[in-house]
Amino acid sequence: MIHLKTNEEIELLRENNILVSETLAEVGRHIQPGVTTKELDRIAEEFIRSHGAVPAFLGYQGYPASLCISVNEQVVHGIPSDKVVLKEGDIVSVDCGTFMKGFVGDSAYTFAVGAVAEEVRQLMEVTKEALCKGAAQAKVGNRVGDISAAVQQYAESFGYGVVRELEGHGIGRKMHEDPGVPNYGARGRGPLLKEGMVICIEPMITQGSKTVVFEEDGWTVRTRDRKAAAHYEWAVAIRKNGPDVLTDFSIIEQAIKH
Ligand code: MF3
Ligand code: CO
Repeated sequence: MIHLKTNEEIELLRENNILVSETLAEVGRHIQPGVTTKELDRIAEEFIRSHGAVPAFLGYQGYPASLCISVNEQVVHGIPSDKVVLKEGDIVSVDCGTFMKGFVGDSAYTFAVGAVAEEVRQLMEVTKEALCKGAAQAKVGNRVGDISAAVQQYAESFGYGVVRELEGHGIGRKMHEDPGVPNYGARGRGPLLKEGMVICIEPMITQGSKTVVFEEDGWTVRTRDRKAAAHYEWAVAIRKNGPDVLTDFSIIEQAIKH
């Protein structure tokens, strides 16, 4: 069942997703060679709580941390660890969720650790642009498949893999609501987009094969060929005047600019 949101509810979702954006910015400021993913998780949890929210991921279906931090061949749901030390050339996908005022925020960003290989830099840029192309289709009267096809077509035009096993979702009082938002599909198919829907669009794009493996820890998803993957996520409201992106990457990009 799809829950349509009022303007007031959309503003509460925006507040959450801005806090997620600010948390990702704070995490981004600390991303450098030598830092552990556990330390980044601690920074995020402290930041979220000090802003009057709680980490939405912590305890979700038993998930043990505030962030998902997925390095290089890890696609999503990497568990922060004091044994994972970032090094120059890594890429780090950080997924963050907050809960406050009855609503959830959920967004993700892939960061570079220092200088990364040109091919990997392109993977990051194309994945972010695929998200923009998908979000541009989040309009009243379109269907979910219009978003899915836009993401897929753009990513595949570079020869990249589009992960099939995980998808975006509606968001509201719960982190995962209907509809599912796959990153592949056909234009004109799937649920109709209506004013007041709020969805998370989250392309997971791979440098090589699209096939993924679920690790023994019960969470981590990685590429089978161990080539790099990138992941960006926005919460987007479908409004009369077009897509309203509730996440603000400019906060993150301002913070990591040097
Ligand atoms: N952000 C993820 C998603 O969009 C959720 C993280 S899974 C959790 O589905 F268990 F860590 F919460
Ligand atoms: Co999500």
